[in-house]
Amino acid sequence: MRQEARDRLIFALDVAGFSAAEEWVEKLHKNVGLFKVGKQLFTRCGPEVVRMVQDHGGEVFLDLKYHDIPNTVAKAAIEACKLGVKIFNVHALGGSEMMRKTVEEVDNYCTSAGVNRPMMLAVTILTSSTEETLHEVGIDHTVAEMVPRLAKLAKDSGFDGVVASPKEVALVREVCGADFAIVTPGVRPTFAALDDQKRVTTPTDAIAAGATALVVGRPISAASDPLEAAGKILLEIEDALGIND
Ligand code: C5P
Repeated sequence: MRQEARDRLIFALDVAGFSAAEEWVEKLHKNVGLFKVGKQLFTRCGPEVVRMVQDHGGEVFLDLKYHDIPNTVAKAAIEACKLGVKIFNVHALGGSEMMRKTVEEVDNYCTSAGVNRPMMLAVTILTSSTEETLHEVGIDHTVAEMVPRLAKLAKDSGFDGVVASPKEVALVREVCGADFAIVTPGVRPTFAALDDQKRVTTPTDAIAAGATALVVGRPISAASDPLEAAGKILLEIEDALGIND
């Protein structure tokens, strides 16, 4: 039971260096199944940091948000598969050709190498973007229109899910159905501060709304007892899933 909740909790390794990342993995891996490695940490440390997480028994969400010509994204995705990451992501704004080619090449690679296919997620519209951001790059649609549109495009291109704010979960579920992963950052348990997150939801509400997994950073890292904070979030996830027997 605990394992199922643990696999739905992703800790954001928002640190600059290898040893800080390793300290967090050692501290948290009992209660956290996945660790998100983003652009800062990966640019600094490279694949070594992915292997470090795996050596401690953790799985990696490689959050590099690929967005390039189809061939380049597909080739980068194959490198992510070779690293054995559990999840990686791309920008859905790269379009269906980019996403389809990535799915096709990743499928071929994983089948021939006999390895598990990573979960492929698409980012729709970054939560830092507003209608004004979209307008200035020539997109005259609202964020609320673009998010489900890009989620559907990702699904139709063979992607497994999206990264979305908790407030967008219902919108995405409506167009993409039950069998589509939704990974949500911007989660704040009631015991944590809001920090710079504006549109937040508790772990309970995010899971109840249909989120598949939660990305959590500061509510864990800023807690006086981070492992205990992660444990409390696991309990919330278990409660929301009805698996706390
Ligand atoms: O510390 P906090 O829980 O706010 O960290 C959330 C993590 O999720 C950070 O790594 C942040 O960059 C990421 N993220 C986010 N909102 C998005 C996409 C990613 O907060 N829309």
